[in-house]
Amino acid sequence: MVFPIQIPDDAPFNAEQRAWLNDFLTKALSGAKPDNIAAAPAVPVTVLYGSQTGTAEGLAKKLTKTLKKGNFIPELRDMASYDRAALADEKNLLIITSTYGDGEPPDSAMELHAWLMSDAAPRLEQLSYSVLALGDTSYPDFCKCGIEFDTRLAELGATKLYQRVDVDVDPDAPYAEWSSAVIALLAPPADSASHESATVAEDAEEAGFSKSNPFPAPVLENRNLNGPGAKETHQIALSLVGSDLAYEVGDALGVYPLNPADVVDEIIANLPFKPSAVMLGSGEEVSLRQALIQHYDIGSLNKSILQKWQAKSGSPFLRSLVLADDKKAYDDFCWGRDLIDLVIDHPADFTDAEEFVSILKKLQPRLYSIASSPLAHPGEVHLCVGIVRYTTFGRDRGGICSTFLADRVGPEIQPRVFVHQNNAFRLPAEKKTDVIMVGPGTGIAPFRAFLEERKATAAAGRNWLFFGNPHSATDFLYQDELSGYFSEGVLTKLDLAWSRDQKEKIYVQNLMLHRGAELWDWLQNGAAFYVCGDASRMAKDVDQALLSIAETHGKLSAEQAAAYIAQLKKEKRYLRDVY
Ligand SMILES: Cc1cc2nc3c(=O)[nH]c(=O)nc-3n(C[C@H](O)[C@H](O)[C@H](O)COP(=O)(O)OP(=O)(O)OC[C@H]3O[C@@H](n4cnc5c(N)ncnc54)[C@H](O)[C@@H]3O)c2cc1C
Ligand SMILES: NC(=O)c1ccc[n+]([C@@H]2O[C@H](COP(=O)([O-])OP(=O)(O)OC[C@H]3O[C@@H](n4cnc5c(N)ncnc54)[C@H](OP(=O)(O)O)[C@@H]3O)[C@@H](O)[C@H]2O)c1
Ligand SMILES: Cc1cc2nc3c(=O)[nH]c(=O)nc-3n(C[C@H](O)[C@H](O)[C@H](O)COP(=O)(O)O)c2cc1C
Repeated sequence: MVFPIQIPDDAPFNAEQRAWLNDFLTKALSGAKPDNIAAAPAVPVTVLYGSQTGTAEGLAKKLTKTLKKGNFIPELRDMASYDRAALADEKNLLIITSTYGDGEPPDSAMELHAWLMSDAAPRLEQLSYSVLALGDTSYPDFCKCGIEFDTRLAELGATKLYQRVDVDVDPDAPYAEWSSAVIALLAPPADSASHESATVAEDAEEAGFSKSNPFPAPVLENRNLNGPGAKETHQIALSLVGSDLAYEVGDALGVYPLNPADVVDEIIANLPFKPSAVMLGSGEEVSLRQALIQHYDIGSLNKSILQKWQAKSGSPFLRSLVLADDKKAYDDFCWGRDLIDLVIDHPADFTDAEEFVSILKKLQPRLYSIASSPLAHPGEVHLCVGIVRYTTFGRDRGGICSTFLADRVGPEIQPRVFVHQNNAFRLPAEKKTDVIMVGPGTGIAPFRAFLEERKATAAAGRNWLFFGNPHSATDFLYQDELSGYFSEGVLTKLDLAWSRDQKEKIYVQNLMLHRGAELWDWLQNGAAFYVCGDASRMAKDVDQALLSIAETHGKLSAEQAAAYIAQLKKEKRYLRDVY
């Protein structure tokens, strides 16, 4: 896809440089050969990525591919295995990194990040660099990791090749701006205009189904895995036949949801203007109803929407909220409310549909860890989806995508999906390596896939699963399958933490600690350790339990235990798929 890119006005260039760059970008992106680019020596560039769930890695690979078509010698490096001593010799460094946890680096970037922030980091006067920071404005520390890399490299004397670009969820347009600009700035101007290899055009859109061209997947199965009770977790099986989409265990599936039509109709009924058609970014014209069902986020509020809404509304409450500009007050208001609450409780004077949708964010696809092995289910992909339902401010509400999958898909409405590759969450290459899997709740998803794969490939390594959920009677997801694997010996050990079957909570990390000596033996024997599920509490507690096991059973000091865990991550023996 070609984007109309212009160097932003606040970018650090004079008018002449800006004109040259804009001319270069226009020509390069249209596939024409830019002037003044010629037989200069090829430019070495290192593309360094830090990625938790594969987005930054995918963009880094794409950039490397593009660079290979130009007068560059690109090297693609994962922060996890990057030789930090090489940093002092790098000339051109392009960093793409996400932010995870509470403003933390992705696991693979932890060690490099900590070292770079420390006094041990060298001066880097020889280095030119630029950072593409991936993030999500719904988290308080937006793009913190990318910001920290950017700031620290400048402190160490490196020269900023191009300003950092911060990505709010959807990377397509910002990636196009950033990559085009850094490529243009790295390409050495020269006398002759006759060198073929210098032309660098963005990749044409990949053929086949992808994130930008999702596959409408027929639903083969949609079944609640829980018994009667509070929780609802659906096994969703989709057909990929005819799509050419392929996946590996450890990958996620991206799903584009549709918003509920009844809520959209209620929104439209309460708007002050006639619901005319709206023009989408793609140039397509659709009805307001269709736009609100398929293209815009009606399920979450944020500060930016509230500010824009307030400007159009006479609501004294919103006015005081915006004037106070207090983060906690914004968060408190947004919690449990959707667009419908603004429409009904704080009517605003939008003149037409275009103006109304212009304040909304694009509806984003959701990711789900794939719960099947393609070897066990050829032509299919399975998901294990926790259905989000709650009642706030007198209204029954649901998570947009989980309720879409549970309630609204069917023969007429097929979910549009794409495969989101995640090389950072793979089974060990050696089939004889043991694996330890910790996956409470929907965290079981990728481990069902792992077990299917280990069985299908007759992997010799042992498999140990820690699973947990509130009640054994109703919440033992995939009970028959797991019991079957245990009887067959595919599952060597199965530890079950039923949190609410007794007075005291029992969680997966309690069982890990209980089995600490054996778990330590498995790790000493080379086992890989995997965690999937809740990021905010469970994954942190499991991490603490692992540290504690290293201290108690490995007889390590707190510092040594931390170094041991960091080394496990570096060796890709401690992998997490948490959300
Ligand atoms: C790499 C990755 C893998 C994932 N794998 C899985 C998986 O295998 N299975 C799975 O189920 N999910 C998985 N998820 C999570 C999934 O992507 C979605 O975030 C999840 O399904 C919720 O999306 P939704 O559209 O239903 O909810 P949304 O419309 O996004 O709404 C969720 C929001 O609703 C609000 N909310 C929820 N409950 C309440 C409440 N009680 N009171 C007030 N507000 C509330 C909160 O603001 C919450 O953030 C994964 C996420 C990632 C990033
Ligand atoms: N981003 C989103 O919108 C979204 C949507 C859906 C799910 N999620 C995340 O995905 C997670 C998985 O959801 P789920 O419903 O399948 O399972 P879950 O809520 O993680 O619950 C699974 C089990 O983990 C237990 N648990 C609670 N706190 C724990 C802790 N600190 N350490 C270890 N175990 C703990 C629960 O016990 P108790 O409940 O008895 O305490 C329950 O037995 C959710 O927690 C949520 O964070 C996110
Ligand atoms: C559990 C979780 C925590 C996150 N924390 C942050 C955060 O603190 N700040 C931020 O800007 N983005 C945060 N994000 C958003 C990611 O940075 C964003 O989705 C990014 O595109 C992921 O890239 P990756 O797949 O390369 O890891 C978080 C995402 C998840 C799932």
